Amino acid sequence: MNEPGLIRDLVRGVPVFPDDMPPFDPQAAPGSPVDLFVEWLTRAVEDGVAAPHAVTLATVGDDGMPDARVVILKDLTPAGWQVASSLDSPKGRQLAANPSAALTFFWPAAGRQVRIRGSVSTATAEENDADFQRRHPVARALVLAGSQSSVLRSREELDAAVGEQVERLEAADGLASTTWTVFTVAPDAVEFWQADQERRHVRLLYSRSGEGWRRELLWP
Ligand SMILES: Cc1cc2nc3c(=O)[nH]c(=O)nc-3n(C[C@H](O)[C@H](O)[C@H](O)COP(=O)(O)O)c2cc1C
Repeated sequence: MNEPGLIRDLVRGVPVFPDDMPPFDPQAAPGSPVDLFVEWLTRAVEDGVAAPHAVTLATVGDDGMPDARVVILKDLTPAGWQVASSLDSPKGRQLAANPSAALTFFWPAAGRQVRIRGSVSTATAEENDADFQRRHPVARALVLAGSQSSVLRSREELDAAVGEQVERLEAADGLASTTWTVFTVAPDAVEFWQADQERRHVRLLYSRSGEGWRRELLWP
């Protein structure tokens, strides 16, 4: 462990948190994690945090191995946090087999992390289609072409498949996807983590308790 690896010297001393971070008083936190999330996301947007709606979605594979990737948060409803993807993708298949997920947000400029764990449900066909139709035409073409995350033999293969689907979309306005799906993560637990310059980071965990939420502080 004493011999440095390839990047130890590179990353040593790189600051993680800014000097100026928003205050967080967990005693004053609202009763619902949904309300606190909206407060924190609003603040992240106002502070100009890059892609504040980008979130790491972790799922579990058939082999019990975790898998994770970044997706976009589409909405937050009383039912939970919504992301979208194709059922015909590794994450789509993993969620179909094991509808459990974790979401992790990190907003560096605010020194904030939010972690959500819960069970996952899929939206109605109408909601899936409404989200699909809001997507950029090339994004829709890619979904229609299918095979997300399967091996790509060449760039030409991709261009041909996208071109074909763009033509189909141009010919038939409102063409639907059979695989595009909005997934809602219904929270069992939501943790809000606020960095502190003196390393006494503040962690507030909301856990489901009957119809409401239990709130506890966690050791940093
Ligand atoms: C910032 C960002 C946003 C992304 N948003 C989405 C998204 O909303 N839905 C999606 O399916 N993939 C999205 N991706 C691509 C995924 O990270 C991933 O590469 C892809 O969905 C395949 O994942 P899978 O093989 O685990 O199914 C995004 C990637 C980045 C970097």
